[in-house]
Amino acid sequence: MTSIVPLPRVQQAPAGETPLHLSETLRIEAEPGAAAVAELLAASLRARGRRVTTTEVDGPATRIALRQQPAEPSATATSAPEEAYTLDVTSAGVELTAPTRAGLFRGSQTLLQLLPPDLSGAVAVDAVHVEDSPRFAYRGVMLDVVRHFFAVDEVLGLIDALALLKINHLHLHLTDDQGWRIEIDSWPRLTSVGARGAVDDAPGGFYTKDDLRRIIAYAAERYITVVPEIDLPGHTNAALSAYPELNADGVAREPYHGVEVGFSSLSAAPERAEATDRFLRDVLGEVAALTPGPWLHIGGDESWSTPAEDYRDLVRRITATAAATGKRVIGWHEIGASEDLPAGTVAQYWSYVSPVGDSADNVRAVVAQGGQVIMSPADAAYLDMAYPEPPATPGGRPLGLDWADGATSLAQAYGWEPTAIVDGISEADILGVEGPLWAETTHTMADVEYLVFPRVAALAEIGWSPAGERDAEDFVARVAALGPAWDAAGIRYARVPEVPWAGAAGDDR
Ligand code: ACM
Repeated sequence: MTSIVPLPRVQQAPAGETPLHLSETLRIEAEPGAAAVAELLAASLRARGRRVTTTEVDGPATRIALRQQPAEPSATATSAPEEAYTLDVTSAGVELTAPTRAGLFRGSQTLLQLLPPDLSGAVAVDAVHVEDSPRFAYRGVMLDVVRHFFAVDEVLGLIDALALLKINHLHLHLTDDQGWRIEIDSWPRLTSVGARGAVDDAPGGFYTKDDLRRIIAYAAERYITVVPEIDLPGHTNAALSAYPELNADGVAREPYHGVEVGFSSLSAAPERAEATDRFLRDVLGEVAALTPGPWLHIGGDESWSTPAEDYRDLVRRITATAAATGKRVIGWHEIGASEDLPAGTVAQYWSYVSPVGDSADNVRAVVAQGGQVIMSPADAAYLDMAYPEPPATPGGRPLGLDWADGATSLAQAYGWEPTAIVDGISEADILGVEGPLWAETTHTMADVEYLVFPRVAALAEIGWSPAGERDAEDFVARVAALGPAWDAAGIRYARVPEVPWAGAAGDDR
């Protein structure tokens, strides 16, 4: 049977159908509205060595038809019908239909998984009928660009690899103690001072507004929404080093390039209120104006040096200012300590599969105020944890952390269920799932890819596929089939022992 990750809702081998034998030329036929999706698919197929046209051709050509049409009733029985699609491969060609362009794009990624990475020779594809739609509307990956900074083109490459797995949100952790990575016109020292350096004296850097626009536009073409995070009120040493007036004592903090957390905080002191509120309005306003997506992530985690009363006061001011931009607010689950959250606030849960401390209470408090949850249990969904039996790493250095109950295997990354973590939270309360990649140990994008792949495939399947259909043994067999695609795309991935990988490469390159 054909191998697709994440597992589709319905996948059938049509009775009596014979395989599709590709002609020398593939012809993508798309309505004008689907032209951009067709061009991206054409580019992917050409990169695999096949001649592709999107216009009329003389002579034989295998037809790939992309059609936008209203959903069948069965395809609308989902929480996110806007990404639904139907794909048919028959001996006559390929038919992809969807109610939206996003659905056509998701279906095109399934088609790319059905085709071999090398299309330069004779190719036969098994006939298949797929009806698909996601379980959760939000399936994200977070990239920390602070602890180590990544260039725009590197982020674009990661976006392509995430798109293949139907990830639809890229959360960028843009600010932290070690650096401020996004240009803010009204507070220029945030980058001229705050962007210098990274962990262990690695080079710093920041995205200009045009840089971030490029990332956002590239992601949007792949129906991926960028979620910007400005981490507040803790994790702010870079800002506190750039602007003395944000500190309670009026003295700029020293730059920090270590890996400790929990020592920095905006000040709740009345004499700092004017500067702090102006900072919040200006920064959150500029970031909201820069990002067309509906979200603004305000952090809120690990504010251990902020007194509890000050934390609640600051979170109230931060979330109110963020909501006033018109965006929907996301924060790490600690923000549930505030009883004044704006309507629809989302808590991002980052405790364990078995909750510790106040984490479950915090999540329930956000939901009780009309909010929702993104599930990122650190011992299963954090993509920056080490692998238990680490395969060879790209630079030969050990990669990944182990604070979240030790290393995380692919089996652990796959073996959790979003609705089974916080008691009293239902499927409808869960917006989706996200895998954060914190960059303390990742010096290069190859390091990032090694930690992300293959574990993000587990996250993608938890977020997309029907819960009752998930099967660990079947999953690793399907992940093995992704290896050649990742090899061909130049994606570095960890050849973890539980996957029956075919061929060489991966971490060996
Ligand atoms: C976190 O890992 N501090 C959200």
